[in-house]
Amino acid sequence: MKNVNPTETNSWNILKEHYRNLKNFDLKEAFAGNPSRAENFTLVDDDFYVDLSKNLLTTATRDALVALAEECHLSEAMDSYFNGEPINLTEGRAVLHTALRTPLAKADDKVKSFVKEALESKKKMFDYVDQIHNGDLLASNGEKFDTVVNIGIGGSDLGPVMIYQALEAYQNNLKVHFVSNVEGDHVEEVLKKIQPERTLFVIVSKSFGTQETLTNATTIRNWFTGKVNAEAVSQHFIAVSSNVDRATAFGVDENNIFPMFDWVGGRFSLWSTVGMSVALGVGTSNFQELLDGAHSMDVHFKETPLLENIPVQLALLTIWYNNFFKAESEAVIPYTQYLQKLPAYLQQAIMESNGKSVDRTGESVDYQTGNIVWGEPGTNSQHAFFQLIHQGTKLIPAHFIAFAKAKYPQPDHHNKLMANFFAQTEALMNGKSEEEVKADLDQTDLTEIEKKRLQPFKVFAGNKPTTTILIDELSPKSIGKLVAMYEHKIFVEGVIWNVYSYDQWGVELGKILADRILDDIEQLKSDGHDASTTALLKQFYSKLS
Ligand code: F6P
Repeated sequence: MKNVNPTETNSWNILKEHYRNLKNFDLKEAFAGNPSRAENFTLVDDDFYVDLSKNLLTTATRDALVALAEECHLSEAMDSYFNGEPINLTEGRAVLHTALRTPLAKADDKVKSFVKEALESKKKMFDYVDQIHNGDLLASNGEKFDTVVNIGIGGSDLGPVMIYQALEAYQNNLKVHFVSNVEGDHVEEVLKKIQPERTLFVIVSKSFGTQETLTNATTIRNWFTGKVNAEAVSQHFIAVSSNVDRATAFGVDENNIFPMFDWVGGRFSLWSTVGMSVALGVGTSNFQELLDGAHSMDVHFKETPLLENIPVQLALLTIWYNNFFKAESEAVIPYTQYLQKLPAYLQQAIMESNGKSVDRTGESVDYQTGNIVWGEPGTNSQHAFFQLIHQGTKLIPAHFIAFAKAKYPQPDHHNKLMANFFAQTEALMNGKSEEEVKADLDQTDLTEIEKKRLQPFKVFAGNKPTTTILIDELSPKSIGKLVAMYEHKIFVEGVIWNVYSYDQWGVELGKILADRILDDIEQLKSDGHDASTTALLKQFYSKLS
């Protein structure tokens, strides 16, 4: 991939100047002045309707942003990404989560071997899942498994747990639990709920060296051995890993190790055997639909011109707000409880990928990269943090995601949910002017003094940008497509910011320091640290009894 400092491009200067000229841009006026604005800024791909029109942009902004993408050689970078070139250069690896969902017949020659490898591992996983479902593989007590515990963290947890919750309406009678945190209480709370003799434990760790996962797996194996017996471990514990030696040393039967590939990053791996718990919990045909949905977004991303390309346009808007408006964060508000975990999943996907301050040449960047992503489902979030978005001092561009059809026919609920969904983006844009507030107050019995006093608190500035993603209905397919949309958005942002999006060296230091402090804790030592840490350790030891 070519290295371009985005701030040194012609388009960046144009955008800077354009931003200055756009300071007084008013969304309401923009709609009033252009009856085709909604249509002009809406992108449609089959069941996805993405309305960008309530954003602080004009067609000139969009053109300049696309020109920036072109100057940063986005199309060539996309070819490198899809063709399996080692674009994760700091680790010398290709980035081919797209190959995990590409049908062999559609695979380009350059990635055929990767797709074949992916299909083989998928077959092994699907065969295993089907055998569990139809009772060919039974628990050690001769009964069918009825519970699964996924033991993993980061990409080995967040993707599976997010998808499993998203597909709650598709769950079968194998109940899946997730253990991720090294906190023993987390493990205990899960163990309290399960019957060991009917539970399958899926240890998911690409490296099979992650402290949290190994600690949890060991505790659970010891608990299981005590409750059932040591011989049954190989029947009840399976692993998803690229480290076969470590997994077998743990006690997993070699046949029950499902491979992961070094050309798939942890946070993009839910499509692989990392999705084992999801496939067990919703079945293989739903899992396949998830892959098909993701593939349809891959095709859209690969084949659609930049101007109409959904992930590209979403990424360019993020750059627009992040680098020109200096907005630091972006909210993602799914109007469905099914997507409760989407913000947490996106936090890893986005922030672990693009939270970088060194560019692809190894130089420190002098511009903002990455963006903070956060959110909670609507309408709950309306009663929590929306006040700050409406009337606070920060600019928070927000994605509003909803499904036109509900899973269950409850029109009263769904109409109210959707009314809130539409009302919020309208309210954020329109705000409430002094005149409108005054007119409202004039309808009350308040004194003139009281009206004047209250007026400023009731004014909403409006002009707050939102993007609306309206999807026909929630299904494995649409969920796969949605997640792939964000994956490609991350890629585009990384290309333009000129950072390596697929490594994560920043999480290593914390791991090393935690190991060092663990040695101290085990010996109740507190010296050798800064004064604050020493005092904290002493306070901690004083409470241990
Ligand atoms: O947090 C760092 C990280 O390496 C993630 O990228 C990864 O998803 C997670 O740890 C878990 O790693 P593993 O699958 O090797 O246990």
